[in-house]
Amino acid sequence: MTEIIDGNAVAERIRSDLQDSIETLADEGVTPGLATVLMSDDPASETYVSMKQRDCEEVGINGIHVELDPDAPAQELYDTIDDLNADPEVHGILVQMPVVEQVDKRRVLRSVDPEKDVDGFHPENVGRLVAGNALYKPCTPHGIQKLLESADVETEGAEAVVVGRSDIVGKPMANLLVQKTPLGNATTTVCHSRTKDLEAHTSEADIVIAAAGVPEFITGDMLKEGAAVIDVGINRVDADNDKGYELIGDVEYDSAKEKAGAITPVPGGVGPMTRAMLLYNTVKAAGRQEDVSVELP
Ligand code: GUN
Repeated sequence: MTEIIDGNAVAERIRSDLQDSIETLADEGVTPGLATVLMSDDPASETYVSMKQRDCEEVGINGIHVELDPDAPAQELYDTIDDLNADPEVHGILVQMPVVEQVDKRRVLRSVDPEKDVDGFHPENVGRLVAGNALYKPCTPHGIQKLLESADVETEGAEAVVVGRSDIVGKPMANLLVQKTPLGNATTTVCHSRTKDLEAHTSEADIVIAAAGVPEFITGDMLKEGAAVIDVGINRVDADNDKGYELIGDVEYDSAKEKAGAITPVPGGVGPMTRAMLLYNTVKAAGRQEDVSVELP
């Protein structure tokens, strides 16, 4: 039987554990604060940020949302980041990506104080991650590690294929999987748009992480029998419903489910985990900055 990995259930367990850590902080008079910054008119980004803010409210994190006019000069965003870096009530800062064209993305990433960089995107934090000494693991790959753990997927010695090389998912995911840690130790291959024979790699993989951003790119016939398949894709495609669209993954679910030993659905797989791990990093950031020792799930 194929195990359907329930991201909502794992995320709920993590959120519930985090609530204990938040109480520990409250006993010391600390409320973790997360600032989200949006400078975009992309409806999907707006939705993601509002969900992150709702999550904060639910667990007792002080959510601060800054929305900038997408047509404003880039300097407004740089100034906003400086203000949030200096604000002692803000322990974590997330600038929703992608940013608008006039903004220098690299400048944004290096402007966020590394201690408040709950995305783990600052070059210093990327370096720490690669060195095996991450301060904040990027939320999606960290959430995927938790999902693999919840489904008892053995990463040690496994052949893992990451499809996609983005800074947000593919690269940090591959770095986490190769590390000498209980949720790493995998023989890890990164495939991308210039990979000559993708199927030659995926069909040998015990673990496939699909993060290419292409709807239903990975099909069942490309997989090894019994593989663990993690679908990171959240693609909006036109649909004949009230919203006018539906969300589908990078994996063709029905055919992949027939082959896989374990698989994540879309929605309800990786998405809730990304959000839960943002709360995790925010609680960790608050503990570090306020010098309170907190247990993390
Ligand atoms: N855009 C898509 N995923 C992410 C993420 O994890 N963090 C930020 N800041 N932007 C994103």
